[in-house]
Amino acid sequence: MNPSDNTLDEKIYKTIRDLVYNKAGINLGEGKQALVHARLGKRLRALDLPDHRAYLELLQNDQSGEELVELLDVISTNHTNFFREPAHFEFLTEVVKKIVAQGSRSLRIWCAAASTGEEPYTLSMVCQEAFGPTKMDFRILCTDISTRVLRICKTGSYPKARISDIPPEYVHRYWNKDDGHFVAKDQLKQPLSFARLNLMENPYPMKGPFDIIFCRNVMIYFDRSGREKIVIEALRLLKPGGYLVVGHAESLNGILNGLKAVHPSVYQKSF
Ligand SMILES: C[S@@+](CC[C@H](N)C(=O)[O-])C[C@H]1O[C@@H](n2cnc3c(N)ncnc32)[C@H](O)[C@@H]1O
Repeated sequence: MNPSDNTLDEKIYKTIRDLVYNKAGINLGEGKQALVHARLGKRLRALDLPDHRAYLELLQNDQSGEELVELLDVISTNHTNFFREPAHFEFLTEVVKKIVAQGSRSLRIWCAAASTGEEPYTLSMVCQEAFGPTKMDFRILCTDISTRVLRICKTGSYPKARISDIPPEYVHRYWNKDDGHFVAKDQLKQPLSFARLNLMENPYPMKGPFDIIFCRNVMIYFDRSGREKIVIEALRLLKPGGYLVVGHAESLNGILNGLKAVHPSVYQKSF
């Protein structure tokens, strides 16, 4: 098949769909053939391959797993924004203030689908505002399955149009302007560390424990068994009384064992 054809051979599509599901838990479903076709075009051009069959062969013979990461990069949706779903950050402010008031001087957050970084940099701003003058030992672990988005996350550099959701006083306090881009100041970036992590490959390599886990707008890709994997690992990695935050459109109904809903799309591990 010619890559410019606008259909993807049914058998090739199914093989790729099964591979993406088995390796990343991402359920492409029946109606995504045209989307996958369009996105695969990028890989075919980058690798100078004649057609999708050749691409599938390369993918199946790739022992390093690197092409799978590239494939997931072009297939997964990385949409994100600063201060996305703002009610969660109001909730976070309250929780962090309470932790500080109780005398704790350490805060550990895991941002489990960090994408290009807008979410973890928002977490860093919101927490530092909530700390006030109190000195805290503060870390945010940023993970994602996609190495491409993590590279952007690590730079902490965004064009002006991306930062319009950040309140102006925070832009002033936490960002430097550099040639039309806004770059995170050291204070903002220093708490962040970065690692590739596939949420479908459990157990996860970290020990935790975390005070709060943000795992937003990624559950939607997974079926119930995929979501269950994440909940089990979140429970292992959270401190007693710690919080798991998911996207507003995501629900953990029926898979709550050990977690209590305390706020819209916020769950707490029992003490
Ligand atoms: C829509 S973005 C959400 C970003 C951010 N959490 C937010 O709410 O704005 C979904 C992210 O999940 C990542 N992702 C998809 N499947 C994943 C998996 N199996 N393990 C880890 N991350 C995954 C994608 O690469 C993407 O960056």
